[in-house]
Amino acid sequence: MVVLDIINLDKISPIHGLSEEDLKEPNLKKILERIHNRKQGFYKIIDDAKQIKAINLFAAKNKFKDIVVLGIGGSAMGASFLQQSLKHLFENELSKNTFPRLHVLDNIDPVLMREIEDILDYKKTLFIVITKSGETMETLSQYLYFREKCEKKKLKIKDHFVFITDPKKGLIRKISNEEKIKCFDIPESVGGRFSVLTPVGLLPARLIGINIEKILAGAKKMRKIFLSENVKENLPFRLAKIEYILGRKGKTTIVLMPYAQKLIRLADWYRQLLAESIGKKFNNRGEEVYTGLTPINALGVTDQHSQLQLYSEGPNDKLIIFMEILNQMNSAKIPNPKKTEPETEVFKNTSFNKLMKAEKKATEESLTTNNRPNITVKIEIINEETIGELTIFFEASIAFLGELYNINAFNQPGVELSKKLTKKYLCQ
Ligand code: PA5
Repeated sequence: MVVLDIINLDKISPIHGLSEEDLKEPNLKKILERIHNRKQGFYKIIDDAKQIKAINLFAAKNKFKDIVVLGIGGSAMGASFLQQSLKHLFENELSKNTFPRLHVLDNIDPVLMREIEDILDYKKTLFIVITKSGETMETLSQYLYFREKCEKKKLKIKDHFVFITDPKKGLIRKISNEEKIKCFDIPESVGGRFSVLTPVGLLPARLIGINIEKILAGAKKMRKIFLSENVKENLPFRLAKIEYILGRKGKTTIVLMPYAQKLIRLADWYRQLLAESIGKKFNNRGEEVYTGLTPINALGVTDQHSQLQLYSEGPNDKLIIFMEILNQMNSAKIPNPKKTEPETEVFKNTSFNKLMKAEKKATEESLTTNNRPNITVKIEIINEETIGELTIFFEASIAFLGELYNINAFNQPGVELSKKLTKKYLCQ
């Protein structure tokens, strides 16, 4: 279960924080209606049992040792965050690994393209080409590169490639139809960064042994909360409203700081979700508004020694969203101090778990003392269910935020110019 702890916002000076009173929203029903009217599928696709069956069937036959995702942005980050949060942190290095290794190539840096080859045996590698549009240059170039490699090794493309793309449109769909390459759909109503719970995230996850049914069970739990018209219950709405109100008070930077090594990729994904969805020039009426909140991803406790000084004493323009795992399953004990080393006395009868909690508490308290707004998203443990809950929680909060700003959170017209210019320079 996800808990949103906002108590610290009430403890700081009202000009930097807010109270429960500020979160009141007489129009939640109307806002929900506006979201429904956008006909977005991110909270509906989790009912698609047919798709899950197809994923399970495909995965059951898998014989490959390496899975390489070719994709970028929303077509790559979901798989990365599911892998990092739900598998062993060093899964790919584990020698007794019963599942294939997963590599997500979220870039076209030639160094990355060349160096991954050093660890792949093409005969034992499956490439998953993921692109909603089927036209993204980065993904197409990756696809062409690895396809040629396989062809040179006389491998059957149909055996070594699977596609995930729009049901009808785009080059990748066309190639799939022509060459009968296995293809999964990204429903038309689901955009890249909202597609984690489609085959985009679920197929790679299932291939590496993640229980996707449990992820969806968690997602359904959170959907119920998202669709609630009760402001006290509706956690995604509460998060959006906090970001919106504090944004208007000048807190235009949002720091997502999980105190969990396994959630740093989730923070990467949220960074994209917030940036691409809310950074908009025009509102729904076509007026120039230049909305946006700047996301930063940080990691507890690592970034206490990197960014905390800025958060504490720099410009008071940030909302810090901590993430805390209440019941860390793994706890390593710190050895008891030796009499000859009084500096280590502090470690008497303690563990890394306790140290991590103490550091989070201390950071939170010091920021609150300095009037720096901060809240905490808490989950009991990291597992498939809570990750499913968190996925819908953050996606739905972005949908609400879009409505509060009166903008379309589901498009990204601002990246088009860069794409056009890249083509121009490539052809020069
Ligand atoms: O969220 C988005 O829409 C983007 O980040 C896309 O996922 C990204 O640009 C890749 O696009 P595509 O999936 O069409 O290849």
